[in-house]
Amino acid sequence: MNIALLSSNYNVRRLNIADVQDIYSLCIRNESYYRYCPPFVTKHSILNDMKALPDGKDISDKYYIGYYNGKELIAVMDLIMSYPKEQNAFIGFFMTSLLIQNTGIGSCIIDELCQYMKKSGITGLRLGWAKGNLHAEHFWHKNGFQETGITYNAGSYTVVLAHRNL
Ligand SMILES: CC(C)(COP(=O)(O)OP(=O)(O)OC[C@H]1O[C@@H](n2cnc3c(N)ncnc32)[C@H](O)[C@@H]1OP(=O)(O)O)[C@@H](O)C(=O)NCCC(=O)NCCS
Repeated sequence: MNIALLSSNYNVRRLNIADVQDIYSLCIRNESYYRYCPPFVTKHSILNDMKALPDGKDISDKYYIGYYNGKELIAVMDLIMSYPKEQNAFIGFFMTSLLIQNTGIGSCIIDELCQYMKKSGITGLRLGWAKGNLHAEHFWHKNGFQETGITYNAGSYTVVLAHRNL
C-alpha cells in the first residue's frame, strides 16, 4: 500500500517512537473517548498499540499512521490490511484532534480511505466501537458503516462490530 495516496488533503505517514509525544497530546484531549474505552491513554499504551496485532496477523499488514496538516498531527489511524478476510481491511483505531473536530475532516479522511481501498481491490472495511458511545456510533453510521450483529466483550466494555461494503 502506498500510504501517501490515502489522502489528497493531508500528508500521511507511518508513526513511530519519535511521534509518541504528539500522539499522546492528541489522545489526552479526547478524554470522553476513554470513558467508553478504558483505560485512559498513556505513552506506554501508545507504544503497545504501535505493535498490537490481531491473532494470526503479521506486522507487514499493519499501518499505524498519522495525518498531518503541515507539521500538525490531526488524526491517527491503526489500519490492518487483509483482515478479517483477504479482501477486507480493519480500522483498529481512529481519532482526530479535538482542535479540528466537527469540521468534516474525520469524514473526509474516511471517504478518501474508502476510495483508495476500493481502487486497491478491497471490498469491505470493518471496525468496532464501544457499545454506548453514541458519538462514535453516529460518526460511523454517517460514514456508511452498519452493525454486523456481532458484539464481543473487550473486558471493561462491549465492542460493536460494523462493516462497510466498498
Ligand atoms: C469520531 C471522530 C473520529 C469524528 O471526527 P471529526 O473530525 O469530528 O468528524 P466529522 O467532523 O466528519 O463528523 C463529526 C460527527 O460526529 C458528531 N460529533 C462530533 N463530536 C461529537 C461529540 N462530542 N458528541 C456527539 N457527536 C459528536 C458530529 O455531530 C458530526 O456529525 P454530524 O455532521 O451529523 O453533526 C472524532 O470525534 C474523534 O476522534 N473522537 C474520539 C475518538 C473516537 O470516538 N473514535 C472513533 C472510535 S470507534
